[in-house]
Amino acid sequence: MSSINRQFRLAARPTGMVKESDFEYGEVPIPEIGDAEVLIKTRYISLDPSMRGQMENRADYVAPLEIGDVMRAGGVGVVDASNNPDIAVGTLVSGTFGMQDYCVGNGSDARFRVFAPDTDPQTALGVLGGTGMTAYFGLLEIGEPKAGDVVVISGAAGATGSVAGQIAKIKGCTVIGMAGSDEKCAWLTDELGFDAAINYKTDDIKAALKRHCPKGMNIYFDNVGGEILDLCLARLADNARIVICGGISRYNLEGPIPGPKNYFNLVFRRARMEGFIVVDYVPRFAEAEAVMQQWIDEGKLKYRSTVIDGFENLPKALIKLFAGENIGKMMVRT
Ligand SMILES: NC(=O)c1ccc[n+]([C@@H]2O[C@H](COP(=O)([O-])OP(=O)(O)OC[C@H]3O[C@@H](n4cnc5c(N)ncnc54)[C@H](OP(=O)(O)O)[C@@H]3O)[C@@H](O)[C@H]2O)c1
Repeated sequence: MSSINRQFRLAARPTGMVKESDFEYGEVPIPEIGDAEVLIKTRYISLDPSMRGQMENRADYVAPLEIGDVMRAGGVGVVDASNNPDIAVGTLVSGTFGMQDYCVGNGSDARFRVFAPDTDPQTALGVLGGTGMTAYFGLLEIGEPKAGDVVVISGAAGATGSVAGQIAKIKGCTVIGMAGSDEKCAWLTDELGFDAAINYKTDDIKAALKRHCPKGMNIYFDNVGGEILDLCLARLADNARIVICGGISRYNLEGPIPGPKNYFNLVFRRARMEGFIVVDYVPRFAEAEAVMQQWIDEGKLKYRSTVIDGFENLPKALIKLFAGENIGKMMVRT
């Protein structure tokens, strides 16, 4: 076992697109564990769009991140040493472990989870991890899908969108995904069973939405915000639900960000637009995990990971996430 704990810390608050120089590499000794604590060796570290807002302290649902702090990140790891009789060495766990090799688990992380020994770590971080939970609760609790609904999903080939779209299919909906390449669109329709896919970079989005949703959409699951949100707002069915999951198109913008022009269609269509934060559903994660594991076992829920090898590539991997270089869950194998 190495005696060094590699870390990436926040070096600067980003302006515009996040840069490698916004991170600083450092090495510290591996932490000691106290009573009831465990030492976790991270194996996979998650890259999430929300990291950008946390670097700027724009994400007000988590504690502020200061310059010099270890960059916050979700991860999956294995218990390397334990003073906790309930968590044995070798246990697969996930939580907010940070961009570092080792961390101490002390039960204060609400997202600390223990997985069955045979769980694939990529599954634990992806479809059964935070993004899978986001898709599950965002679609089912906020979107309230009903059989026959027309559901549009942006960021559809990403970790959250790909799962949300498949859950909508399981619930009997017609599902249209939007993604940024033909390869991603083909994955959605040919492998995941989406009814249609729109390449938002090359297709005429407005015309495609009109073609695929002639009577409007009942649910729009929004991962991107911006112009795509506006175009969807213009094509709602009566009593539509707009699930504001994220707005990645705005995360790296500088200056004032325009609001949606077409919001008033909410009035005409008696529609509801509602945001949510997945951490509010932590007490129900086990329930969702059981349901999604069953769908996986039945072959109804498929998933992919984009795995980048090497701890040193963590900042690059975050930049690649914003460039859309991932299909499914983006993660670094340390
Ligand atoms: N509310 C919550 O609690 C919660 C929790 C987790 C995640 N989220 C949100 O969910 C969304 C998806 O997160 P994720 O972790 O699953 O990431 P992801 O979808 O796996 O990866 C991000 C994807 O966004 C797309 N993208 C990047 N820039 C874009 C732009 N300007 N316009 C449109 N698409 C763009 C890229 O795909 P393309 O090739 O398609 O461009 C990229 O692959 C994010 O907005 C995130 O903030 C919310």
